[in-house]
Amino acid sequence: MLSALISVALSITVVKIEFVASKRAVSGMAVVPVFEKEACYGVARDYLKDGGPQVKATLKGARLSAHPGTHTSLYSSDPSKLNALTFWSAGEKKRFDAELFGAKAGAAFRTRGESSLTLHLDGLSLSQDELARAAVGVRLATYRFFKHRSKVSENRLTTLKTLRITCDSPTQARSSYRSFHGPICDGQLHARDLVNEPANILFPKAYATRIRALKKAGLEIEVLGEKEMKALKMNALLGVGQGSRRESQLVVMKWMGGKRKKGAPVCLVGKGITFDTGGISLKPGVGMWDMKGDMGGSAAVVGAMQALALRKAKVNAIGIVALAENMPDGNAQNPGDVITSMSGQTIELQSTDAEGRLVLADALWYAKKTFKPCAMVDLATLTGAVLVSLGHEHAGLFTNSDKLAKEFEKSSPKAQERTWRFPLLPEYDRLLDSETADMKNSVGRVAGSITAAQFLQRFVDGTPWVHLDIAGTSSKNTRTDPREPSFAIGYGVRLLNQWIADHYEG
Ligand code: BES
Ligand code: MN
Ligand code: ZN
Repeated sequence: MLSALISVALSITVVKIEFVASKRAVSGMAVVPVFEKEACYGVARDYLKDGGPQVKATLKGARLSAHPGTHTSLYSSDPSKLNALTFWSAGEKKRFDAELFGAKAGAAFRTRGESSLTLHLDGLSLSQDELARAAVGVRLATYRFFKHRSKVSENRLTTLKTLRITCDSPTQARSSYRSFHGPICDGQLHARDLVNEPANILFPKAYATRIRALKKAGLEIEVLGEKEMKALKMNALLGVGQGSRRESQLVVMKWMGGKRKKGAPVCLVGKGITFDTGGISLKPGVGMWDMKGDMGGSAAVVGAMQALALRKAKVNAIGIVALAENMPDGNAQNPGDVITSMSGQTIELQSTDAEGRLVLADALWYAKKTFKPCAMVDLATLTGAVLVSLGHEHAGLFTNSDKLAKEFEKSSPKAQERTWRFPLLPEYDRLLDSETADMKNSVGRVAGSITAAQFLQRFVDGTPWVHLDIAGTSSKNTRTDPREPSFAIGYGVRLLNQWIADHYEG
């Protein structure tokens, strides 16, 4: 099963992960964390037995425990032996973050020409969860999106293939990895592949085809084309795609793993604009290339649904992604146009660049009417304003339910994906009122992320709902965290899974 999961993601990353009890690596590279105010000699344990004096001298000379973050290596000249043994100064033991440690080690040893890496995490009283997350750290850090490069210089190619983690109870760690963290990481890396993919390759129909491939993970997939959406009167969604030569699609993914097959599902809804030029309200040219990632919300939904299926989550979940390309064209819609959404509510277009909320308006309404969910979460790269407010560090969270807000407050730190709640108020909602139609789709500069959320709220019809504005967290062009080595971050997959695991399973 595990190898099948990995082939779903086209990413280049560590492919084989083992949890072992043995205390010593015999080939490839090995890393030992060294802690502040700890006897380093004790940490080096078994290595002292054969490399005794050399190991001792190195540890003493490097004064690692006094310099957290630094590391020092010993190399062997005998190719039949362990090639490199690295001591890594890991700061205070009680603040040790196994996932980050894995990521740093993965980043440091990805291209060293060796195919195996051993992380020594035995004797540290780490939970099975932390041990599994060390493996996740390595996978996130060694991910690269190189599929469109015809050449990659040799020193940047991933040579690392096998990761071994030594630990005190490998059976439990392995099971935590296989049944939870591994499948979630598969989903997250798949989401990255989708967001990194350029828009000439990942247009709505091609995207739908890729989602169909998830049938083999156990998802039920249904694809609505423009004809089916016309019949459903999804004019808000269709209007966004009408300037594009590419046909819009709405894809529904079903995972009915709950104890009661008829129990109300959770619905996950994603904005999937495969490219956002702004339409007739054309965006400026500089930076427009980032808009290949304007389907990050949908990618998170796809990755999360994949993870739920792979880990056979005991939940009924429906994933819905609204896929369209926003283009200027003779056939494109204009500012001032009035459209009638599936809900019957009319919308006056103020800006064709506020397109995400239009596709979501119909997708949310469709989700609510068709599946009568107990809760609905949408994810969208919705506003530049959320980037202004929160940068890349938090997603904006908006909800009509304090209960859901609490649920996310609990799950968000566990998933290591931060959220920050914004207010919703009738005073903000009123800003959307229009003279010509029931509402307008944008209202100028004030409270840009909130008015976008207020717009969405008009289409959830009282269903408990959370909107996550991930315009800042879905991708970035700076590299700061070793777990985020590419444009796409894959934000949302872990959060959705954790939220479901914490509140809707069992
Ligand atoms: N896809 C953009 C939002 C965005 C901006 C995502 C930057 C990622 C990075 C969205 O469709 C958009 O254009 N929003 C407009 C809304 C405005 C016209 C009300 C914006 O934020 O400027
Ligand atoms: Mn836009
Ligand atoms: Zn957009």
